[in-house]
Amino acid sequence: MHCTRNVTESIVWIGGNDRRLALFENLFPIPRGVSYNSYVILDEKTALMDTADASIRRQFVENLQYALNGRTLDYLVVDHMEPDHCSNIDELMLRYPEMKVVGNVKTLRFISQFYEINLEGRTVEIKEGDELCLGKHTLKFVMAPMVHWPEAMVAYETSEKVLFSADAFGTFGALNGNLFNDEISFDKAWLDDARRYYTNIVGKYGPQVQSVLKKAAGLDISMICPLHGPVWRSDLGYILDKYDKWSRYEPEDRAVVILYASMYGNTENAVEILANALAEAGVKDIAMYDVSSTHVSQIIGEAFRCSHIVVAAPTYNNGLYPAMEAVLRDMKALNLQNRTFAVIENGSWAPISGKEMQGLIAGLKNCSILEPCVSLKSSVKEEKAEGLRQMAKEIAASLNA
Ligand code: FEO
Repeated sequence: MHCTRNVTESIVWIGGNDRRLALFENLFPIPRGVSYNSYVILDEKTALMDTADASIRRQFVENLQYALNGRTLDYLVVDHMEPDHCSNIDELMLRYPEMKVVGNVKTLRFISQFYEINLEGRTVEIKEGDELCLGKHTLKFVMAPMVHWPEAMVAYETSEKVLFSADAFGTFGALNGNLFNDEISFDKAWLDDARRYYTNIVGKYGPQVQSVLKKAAGLDISMICPLHGPVWRSDLGYILDKYDKWSRYEPEDRAVVILYASMYGNTENAVEILANALAEAGVKDIAMYDVSSTHVSQIIGEAFRCSHIVVAAPTYNNGLYPAMEAVLRDMKALNLQNRTFAVIENGSWAPISGKEMQGLIAGLKNCSILEPCVSLKSSVKEEKAEGLRQMAKEIAASLNA
């Protein structure tokens, strides 16, 4: 049975939700599920803005047929070729033999790479600034290379001022009936997942996102329709500001996140002492995560949110404890910058994890390490507890600087 919502009188959301998938991209846990958004524009010509994931094909096709109400589909615009959005191109080409596939040169190449589809006579190739007139509605195409794939583009509908933004402004989380940002408490219920989605999937490509934001600033946008998560029809400045901060690698909050690894509880004891001292120094909303039991995508999200990051880990195999090494390498892969770190190491006979962590942090752009680092041998003794209290004072002073 169809299950759609009207975005405007002539634009219909025909997407769906997957609450069964455990890992998005087989990487990222999505306990709240995910939505695959797709939109139909009904005018003299009909146009579909992207398809959906194969997992919701049946719902998607039923929704499309209902929205078209017996009409044919004239155009399929492919803004992004990741299979969570393009898995139904072949299905639609069979169902609508007159339908033209609209994409840029890279889009069309990717279609042939992914699928055995004969595109001859079935494509409209567009480039930056080209327009596609549907009647009263006109789509203007803006390239968004490497956000986060090379063929990515966005489409601006000029009559209703709607930006079809592809993955940009998307988020993990299934839509529970509420489609629009003004129907949900985004800040309370969605922001963490939106940040986790952006930072882990697009985080590496900050300069490219900045470039698209600059292009978007030249458009009069009344609504943003992303391929995942809620549609933005009010308070657009809120999400644009988040994207601006995230893509400039500017911390969202002046706040401390403590990331620790601990084999038998001794390094954990150290960060507990540090956290208490931070609290007594007036630091609020301290966040703390065990890197062995927290998914790295959540840690990355928090690292992008916070200005100050404490890393504490044991020495292992004459190197760094593997779970912490993975976290710091992922920060590098995702281009995290402009943070202040503090480092605590532990090692019972040859501590070296601190040096290893410092080396990895040195590979992050414009990041500093507060001195001195604390080096533990097995467990915290009073002298080292004093070092941790001193570290808390340094962090608090830096936070307030
Ligand atoms: Fe939601 Fe990059 O695909």
